[in-house]
Amino acid sequence: MKAAGYVRSAAVEAAFRAVPRHVFLPDVTVAEVYTDRAFPTKHADGKPISSSSQPAIMAIMLEQLALQPDQRVLEIGAGTGYNAALIAQIVGPGGHVVTIDIDEDLVAQARQHLATAGSDGVDVRCADGGYGYPGGAPYDRIILTASAWDITPAWFEQLTLGGRLVLPLSLRQVQQSVAFERHQDHLESVSVADCGFMPLRGDFAGPQRVVALSQPPGPFVAVEGDRPIDSNALSEALKTTPMEVPTGITATVGQACGSLSLWLALEDPDSCLFSIYGDPSVVDRSAVPLVVEWSAGDMKQRSTRALLGKKGLVALSRPPGGELDRPEDLVPLSIVSFRAEPELVQRLQALVIAWHEAGRPRTDALQISAYPKGKSVAPSPEARVLEKRWTTLVVSRF
Ligand SMILES: C[S@@+](CC[C@H](N)C(=O)[O-])C[C@H]1O[C@@H](n2cnc3c(N)ncnc32)[C@H](O)[C@@H]1O
Repeated sequence: MKAAGYVRSAAVEAAFRAVPRHVFLPDVTVAEVYTDRAFPTKHADGKPISSSSQPAIMAIMLEQLALQPDQRVLEIGAGTGYNAALIAQIVGPGGHVVTIDIDEDLVAQARQHLATAGSDGVDVRCADGGYGYPGGAPYDRIILTASAWDITPAWFEQLTLGGRLVLPLSLRQVQQSVAFERHQDHLESVSVADCGFMPLRGDFAGPQRVVALSQPPGPFVAVEGDRPIDSNALSEALKTTPMEVPTGITATVGQACGSLSLWLALEDPDSCLFSIYGDPSVVDRSAVPLVVEWSAGDMKQRSTRALLGKKGLVALSRPPGGELDRPEDLVPLSIVSFRAEPELVQRLQALVIAWHEAGRPRTDALQISAYPKGKSVAPSPEARVLEKRWTTLVVSRF
């Protein structure tokens, strides 16, 4: 993780060396547990709702958090307790770590794992993290390990001035891990990285709709808002032989699932996540075109971005090879249409070319400002404004 640049500071390196991951994943073999993989630990309706996250993204987010000894930290999403133990290791005995989870069984397990690991000083509570945890506030740092659609008032209020909030933020179903710094009346991003987390549950769950296109484990689309979706027609469309058109554009897998996916999300309201999660043999046989795949324990997730039509959809695709861990490999991008209207195919083609011509904006150069709702905002003409329930997000340099 150091060689790949995920671990950059001595403090984060020391924490990963000091805290044994196998204690937090007692059902995973020691050979597997020290690989760079996420391990789901709890499912509902065939989808993971808790896991030990992939160590690479944990390291990236801990670096974004820029922890210092003696700080007060709130983690939302205790899961196995592993990340809380890493945080406690960095802030040391003079710090204070509260980690909360929405599920009582996970809280009990996290407490047990932390005790076995000898990780003192972590307060594990069962609560809905959307409300923060007022009992331990104010915090110098707040980190979410579940993806949020919005920034709730509690996180803003419970963060000290100059403090940091790091969270996987869903920008129309494309997640970015954003490190925000708290200013007097708003939050300003200081670092952004591509990521993929399971969504926050509870009172502050986003308006994400997951629409199954066949019996689980089968393909599904995830969209925001209440646009009508004819799941029967889409499901029939997926049974037809798709039409594939090359775009003439090559990209790395990281660009396709990061920058290009975010471009499609911000530029086109018909864009959605098109995905499948399940046994690798089911995923490999599915109609979902390949852009990015993750292994999660024994399961696999394959995802792409698509534009939704009335009776069909059109998605990005690429051939196998050139994976995320080979960041320089370029792969040809194509467009796969499942009974999509010709206009939709042309639109996706035009969006891919526009992204290329715009210089393939880097997601790590994004600047995001978050203003509590109701504050007057004067964004530059190039910025994209996303209105959420509690905040107005201004996304620029993209
Ligand atoms: C990726 S897992 C957390 C991984 C964890 N940090 C670890 O090191 O094992 C995400 C967690 O967020 C929790 N979660 C989801 N919604 C929540 C909410 N509203 N409040 C608190 N926890 C929540 C889930 O139950 C799940 O355990």
